[in-house]
Amino acid sequence: MYFINLFGKSWFLNFILYMKKLIFASKQSLKLKFMPYFKSCLPVIILVFFFAANLNLANAQTFNFDLQGHRGARGLMPENTIPSFLEALKLDVNTLELDVVISKDKKVVVSHEPWFNPSICLDASGNQITEESEKKIRIYEMDYAEILQFDCGSTQNPQFPKQQTQKVAKPLLEDVISTVEAYIKNNNLPKVAYNIEIKSAPKGDDTFHPTIDVFSKLVHKVIKKQLPTERVTIQSFDFRVLKYWNKHYPAFKLSALVSGGDIKNQIDKLGFTPQIYSPSFKYLDQNTVKQAQTMGMKVIPWTVNQKEEMIPLLEWGVDGIITDYPDIGMELKK
Ligand code: G3P
Ligand code: CA
Repeated sequence: MYFINLFGKSWFLNFILYMKKLIFASKQSLKLKFMPYFKSCLPVIILVFFFAANLNLANAQTFNFDLQGHRGARGLMPENTIPSFLEALKLDVNTLELDVVISKDKKVVVSHEPWFNPSICLDASGNQITEESEKKIRIYEMDYAEILQFDCGSTQNPQFPKQQTQKVAKPLLEDVISTVEAYIKNNNLPKVAYNIEIKSAPKGDDTFHPTIDVFSKLVHKVIKKQLPTERVTIQSFDFRVLKYWNKHYPAFKLSALVSGGDIKNQIDKLGFTPQIYSPSFKYLDQNTVKQAQTMGMKVIPWTVNQKEEMIPLLEWGVDGIITDYPDIGMELKK
């Protein structure tokens, strides 16, 4: 105000009026200059606008489905470890997918292989495991105290560049369940389901794992102690396992794991209709989804890691998706 008074009020007002005129004049000239171009470009502008709006709509598409964290959240944390399962919980999965094998002292160990995968595990001395020796170091021939010495988290899985590393051992199924349940309780999270894969094959009996009856009884004992039946699904590629559970523990949901192939033949071979049909997404088509659902099964394909792969499956009406990247899957959840 002191500055205005010094040079007189009229000077300041004139300056403001002059600036206003200048702005108005430049707006007019801009309009005159660009209006013809603007008019001719209008259809293109409208098209671009609708395209962008549609793209946005497509991106915002969401679905109701069972989001299953494969080996926890394998894309982000060392697979089948407690940090991986906790990461999956943070990403709002409905179900934790995991694999189990048996140790010499008959403990149920969470592991994809009944040995130590050389691309992700180091031996008890921190040395690399060679591909020649991997299948000779059998979990079924080691007590859990020995298994605990192996580090299956410090080496990043080369297939998953976003995977964090940390020194961590293969956990027991009972420790996974108790840690997950405590985490859920302490953080007021919704309860999750467990999709537990029994890793067996006919040629592995008594070498890589016990026979199906012994294997199943051990797994059943752990589950019964810690979880209600309705929160568990037993899955296997080994149909002997599904047949065993169907006969001896019929209250459990069962999931038939397959790669591809004819669904009717597969279910005929199994001899009963399980609750879930779980094929590789790579061989799945819309007809098979409908066929499985008409037969009374839910369809939960594995292992779907890209949004562009998930969307068509969800549009076909699959009931769930098993993914290494629950962070991607959660973006598609309603
Ligand atoms: O749950 C299905 C999926 O886990 C089967 O494949 O080899 O990753 O156990 P895999
Ligand atoms: Ca599995």
